[in-house]
Amino acid sequence: MQPLWLSVVCCVSVFVVFVYTAAVPTSDTFVVAKADDGHTEKSEMNTEEEPNVPIKLTKMQVNSEVSLRYAHTAVVTYVRNPSRRSQQATFHVLLPETAFISGFVMTLDGKSYKAYVKEKEEAKKIYDDAVSQGTGAAHISAKARDSNHFTVSVNVEPNTEAVFNLTYEELLVRRNGVYNHAINLHPGALVPKMEVTVHIKESQKISLLRVPEVRTGNEIDATEKDAQNAKAVIKKSNNDKEATITFTPDLEEQNRLMAIYSDKIIESAKLPHEWYSEQNNEKTTGVLGQFVVQYDVVRPEKGDILVNDGYFVHFFSPEELKPLNKFVVFVLDTSSSMYGRKIEQLRTAMQTILADLRPTDYFSIVEFNSDVKVHNLSKTHKDEASPYEYSVIDYDINLDRASGGAIAEPVLASPDNIAKAQDIVSKFSAIGGTNIYEALDVAIDVINKAYEINKPDSSAAVNNSDAERIKALQPIIVFLSDGEASVGETNPKRILSHISEKNTGERRAAIYSLAFGHDADRGLLRKLSLRNGGFMRQIYEAADAALQLRHFYQQVSSPLLAHVKFVYPPNQVKAESVTRYVFDAIFAGSETVVAGKLEPDVLELAPHVTGFCAEDEDHYARKRYEVMNKVKVSEIKEYLPLERLWAYLSIKQLLDERDVREDHEDNKDEKSPEKRALAIALKYEFVTPLTSLVVVKPNATNAVDTVSADGPDTQKDYANGTGGTIDNEAFEESPLGAGKSIDI
Ligand SMILES: *[C@@H]1O[C@H](CO)[C@@H](O)[C@H](O)[C@H]1NC(C)=O
Ligand SMILES: *[C@@H]1O[C@H](CO)[C@@H](O)[C@H](O)[C@H]1NC(C)=O
Ligand SMILES: *[C@@H]1O[C@H](CO)[C@@H](O)[C@H](O)[C@H]1NC(C)=O
Ligand SMILES: *[C@@H]1O[C@H](CO)[C@@H](O)[C@H](O)[C@H]1NC(C)=O
Ligand SMILES: *[C@@H]1O[C@H](CO)[C@@H](O)[C@H](O)[C@H]1NC(C)=O
Repeated sequence: MQPLWLSVVCCVSVFVVFVYTAAVPTSDTFVVAKADDGHTEKSEMNTEEEPNVPIKLTKMQVNSEVSLRYAHTAVVTYVRNPSRRSQQATFHVLLPETAFISGFVMTLDGKSYKAYVKEKEEAKKIYDDAVSQGTGAAHISAKARDSNHFTVSVNVEPNTEAVFNLTYEELLVRRNGVYNHAINLHPGALVPKMEVTVHIKESQKISLLRVPEVRTGNEIDATEKDAQNAKAVIKKSNNDKEATITFTPDLEEQNRLMAIYSDKIIESAKLPHEWYSEQNNEKTTGVLGQFVVQYDVVRPEKGDILVNDGYFVHFFSPEELKPLNKFVVFVLDTSSSMYGRKIEQLRTAMQTILADLRPTDYFSIVEFNSDVKVHNLSKTHKDEASPYEYSVIDYDINLDRASGGAIAEPVLASPDNIAKAQDIVSKFSAIGGTNIYEALDVAIDVINKAYEINKPDSSAAVNNSDAERIKALQPIIVFLSDGEASVGETNPKRILSHISEKNTGERRAAIYSLAFGHDADRGLLRKLSLRNGGFMRQIYEAADAALQLRHFYQQVSSPLLAHVKFVYPPNQVKAESVTRYVFDAIFAGSETVVAGKLEPDVLELAPHVTGFCAEDEDHYARKRYEVMNKVKVSEIKEYLPLERLWAYLSIKQLLDERDVREDHEDNKDEKSPEKRALAIALKYEFVTPLTSLVVVKPNATNAVDTVSADGPDTQKDYANGTGGTIDNEAFEESPLGAGKSIDI
C-alpha cells in the first residue's frame, strides 16, 4: 500500500553556517519532500516564478508568554493562495540561538499536521528512506546574530489557506542588568494584519521595562540611551508583577521599518569583510527587524526560590555586594589575519576596556601571534628607544620561563599604568601566525608567578601590601583570537588538555574567550572556556565590533562572588536532578539559576549559598560569604513553568558537559551526559543536536493528533512515536547559528 503521505525531516545541526564559511553550507540540515500523487516537488517549485496571482500573507501573530524569565513564544502566520493552481508558500522564522523550538504545526486547507521530535539517527533514517523515494531540497537563509533559522516551504492548494505555527522556548538571560527578550519580525512581505504581544508575569515586581525602537538584530543589546518604540503599548498590572506589551504595526509602519532595515543592511554591506556580505542573497524585503522587550525585577536580597509541583528554581543575583578586585590577563591575538579593521577595532575597544578597570584591579597584557609577548608595564621611562619595551618570550625558549625569569609582573590599574597600557595597545600591529598554545600557557604562568612571588611569606615578596592584595584577587583571562592555531602546538585536543591541566587549583583563572570573526576556532574556544569556568562569545566582524567587545567586557568586569556553591539539603532534593550548582564566579548584572526536583512530601526547601565576597571595610581582602534561605513548599498549584525550565537548563548543561569531554566513548552508557540529555529532549520534545523534527502528513481525513501507524514500513518506528502531545519541544544549541529548514 502506498499511502498518501508526505514526510519531512529536519535535522537541526550545530555550527552549520558558521563553521563552514563556504557559500554552500555542508548541511546537516535535511529536507525531505515527498509527494506521491504524481507531481514532483521540483516542478512545483518552478511554478513559483510564473505569472500567477501570487500567494498572499494575510496575517502574522506573535504571542510570547514570559513567566519567571522563561519565555514561550508562538509565531503564527496565515497565507492564502488565491490562484487556480497550487503554489509554494515559505514560512520562516529566525529564532534566538538559545531557544528550543517547542513545536510546529501547519494547517493546510483546514487539516493540521504536527511535527514530532525523534532521535537524530532515527530521523535520519526516515529522511534517507524518504529521499530514496522522493525529492529533496535544502536551503539555509539569512541569519541575524545569535539566531537560528527555521524554514518550511509547502505547496498550498488552489483557493485554500495555510497556517504555520512555530513555538519556541528559552530562558531569558540577564546581561548587564536586564533580561533581553528579542523577537525577529521577518514575515517576508507586508502583512495586512500584524500583532505582537508579549505578556510578562513575574513573582517579584518589575522594576524596569523598556521597549526600544525595532532594531536590526545585528546590534548589541539596547541600552537606556536607545529611543523607545513609540508604537508599542504597555499595560502594567496594579501590583507591578505583570505587564503586557502589544505592537501592531500597520502597513505604513511596516513600510517605514523595512526601509530603515534595508538601509542599515546596505550600509553595513559596503564595509569590507562585512559579516552581512556573506549573506549576499539575503533579502531585506519583508524584514522589519527585531522587536525587543527589556526588563528587570526587584530582587530579594537572599535570592528568589520558587517551588511548584515537585520542582524548584532558584534565582540568585547578589547585587548588594561590592565587586571583588580582579586580576585580568588580556591575551590578545595580533596575528596577520587581524590586519585591517579588526586590529583597529581591538585597539579602539581596549582603550575603553582598560579605562574601565578599577583602580584596585591588577592586569597584564599578553600579545600573541607567532610569538608571545608579555608587556612589561612596570617600565617607567617613555624616553627610551622603544618605550615600554616588552619582554619577548619565544615559544621555543620555554626554559627561560620555567626558571622564573622572563615574565613581566602584573601591575595595579593606576591611571599611569592604564595610560601606558593604552599606549602599548594603540601600537599593536598585525603580523605572523597564531600561537594559541603558547599564549595561554604564558598567561597561566603570568598568574601563577604573580601569586607565587607575592606570597606573603615568600622571600621574593617585594611589597607586603601588594602581596596581600594579589592574594585576594579574582583571576580572569580574557582571551581573544580570530583564527585557528597555526604555530607551535596546533592540535586542539592537546591545547585543551594541556591548558586545562595547567590551570587548576585555587588560583584557577576563569577563561573568557572571544571568537573574533568567522575564522576563529569557535569549537576550541568554546571548549576551552567551558573547561576553565568561563564562557565563549562570538564577536561579529562588523562595524560595531569594538562596541561588542566592550559590551562583553562589561559582563565580566565586576565579579561579586567567587567559588560559589549552592547547597540543597539532600533529604529535600533529588541529588541527580539538580542542575549546575558550582560556579567560579558570579558577576554584577547577571543572574545565576539553579533548578531541580524535590523529594516527594518535603514541606520546605532550605538551601544555602556559599562563596567569597569582598570585605566591606578593607578594599583588598575577601571574606567568606554565606546566605541561608527557606521556602515553604506550598500546596497551591499555580501554573509555573518550573519543570520546563528545569528541562531546558538540564539539556543545555548536559550538552556542554558532553562537548567538553575528550572523547565520546562513554556515550553508550545510559548515565552519560549525552544519553541523559537525549532522554530529557525526547520526553519534553525538544529539538536538540541529538534530536530532529519530523512532520508527517497523514492520510485522508485524519488530523492533528493522529500520526497514524499506517505509514510505509520504514516509518513504523516513528509512527508509533510520541503522537499527540501538545507541548512539542525543540531545542537548538548552536553557539552561533545552525540553519534548519524543512521543505514539503
Ligand atoms: C488512513 O488511515 C486510516 C486509519 O488511520 C486507515 O484505516 C486507512 O486505511 C488509511 N487509508 C489509506 C488510504 O491509507
Ligand atoms: C500555536 O501553537 C501553540 C502551541 O501548540 C498553541 O498554544 C497556540 O494556540 C497556537 N496558536 C494558534 C493561533 O493556533
Ligand atoms: C620590567 O621593567 C622593570 C623596570 O624597568 C624591570 O625592573 C623589570 O626587570 C622588567 N621585567 C622584566 C621581566 O623584564
Ligand atoms: C607597596 O605597594 C603599595 C601599593 O602599590 C604602595 O603604596 C607602597 O608605597 C609600596 N611600598 C613599598 C615599600 O614599596
Ligand atoms: C509500536 O507500538 C506497539 C505497541 O506499543 C509495539 O508492540 C510495537 O513493537 C511498536 N512498533 C515499533 C516498530 O516500535
